[in-house]
Amino acid sequence: MRCLVTGVAGFIGSHLAERLLADGHEVCGIDNFLDYYPRSIKEDNLRGLRLQPHFTFVEGDLLAMDLQPYLAKVGWIFHQAAQPGVRASWGKDFARYTDCNVLVTQRLLELALHARYLKRFVYASSSSVYGDAHVLPLAESALPRPLSPYGVTKLAAECLCKLYYENFRVPTVSLRYFTVYGPRQRPDMAFHRFCRALIACQPIHIYGDGEQTRDFTYVSDVVEANILAATREQAIGKVLNIAGGTRASIYQAVQLLQNISGLSASIIAEEKQYGDVRHTCAATTRAEQILGYYPGVSLREGLLREFHYMLSLYNCGEITSA
Ligand code: NAD
Ligand code: UGA
Repeated sequence: MRCLVTGVAGFIGSHLAERLLADGHEVCGIDNFLDYYPRSIKEDNLRGLRLQPHFTFVEGDLLAMDLQPYLAKVGWIFHQAAQPGVRASWGKDFARYTDCNVLVTQRLLELALHARYLKRFVYASSSSVYGDAHVLPLAESALPRPLSPYGVTKLAAECLCKLYYENFRVPTVSLRYFTVYGPRQRPDMAFHRFCRALIACQPIHIYGDGEQTRDFTYVSDVVEANILAATREQAIGKVLNIAGGTRASIYQAVQLLQNISGLSASIIAEEKQYGDVRHTCAATTRAEQILGYYPGVSLREGLLREFHYMLSLYNCGEITSA
């Protein structure tokens, strides 16, 4: 299948493109190296991909570039590109969130209308659309009430996907990922920051009381969910939670990481951050029934793999202060 992966130089997009190539597909990846975190890290994410004969990389801004040539023969679109980050989405940079998350998605959907061979448009949505949970586990039928500007933009784009399906039958599927981790995790995210602090013998900063929980999801499980969403006919038009089934508090995760790494760090308690939800915990029955999705990587195993990746990044001198 000819695939388009947007945000291919990012954390999830690069893993997804690798898997598609390994499965024998042809992949065109687009990314503009948004400066939310260093380009050098994204170049590193792309290194293996660039060696693959069935991979084409295009550097460009999805909001401005001519996308027609890349959509003409595409069968599967995996739309991963976004301005991510819950806590950074307040204030003057909000335009980046509306541009990259809402306007880009609308532009892609408009073009998808005319993509003759398109079989699937998989959109990377987010657990941040739920906001603070009143009832756990979170089911897709719960009223979305985002708590951060980022969550608002992810929900808006998800609604656009639904609209283009309902009105024009663009074959969209929205996957609501729950806090994804693993090798190449973004430098602003908790586990990346905790690993980096441990390796550099620096304190770990915890926002709030550390008792907030997340349904952490290992990146290969998210990749698998994308493949299933592209191949299962029943997925079209649906919104599905994709989670790891390994809910833990931030304190528990730090303890596990210290245990795995054999390293320890002092902990500094910081103010709770605006936009941060208290708990996430997904109901995954719908993904089980429609996709046959079951997460496969435990938190311990996944954290170990991320820690090893961070060691190699550190040895390459790539640790930044992001
Ligand atoms: P990431 O920042 O590592 O990857 C996103 C990539 O998109 C970046 O490389 C960036 O340069 C690119 N990009 C952004 N705007 C672009 C534009 N206008 N044109 C071209 N490229 C552009 O982020 P990630 O963590 O890999 O997240 C991937 C997707 O998954 C995002 O849509 C995010 O909202 C969603 N998501 C992530 C998580 C998570 O825990 N990481 C959880 C829920 C949802
Ligand atoms: C993550 C991603 O960053 C979002 O892009 C994504 O949309 C979201 O998951 C999702 O599931 O939808 P978040 O859950 O905030 O958002 O993930 P982390 O950045 O890994 O933070 C997890 C928790 O650790 C948060 O409560 C945060 O406040 C805390 N944290 C983070 C710290 O205590 N210290 C840090 O240094 C970093």
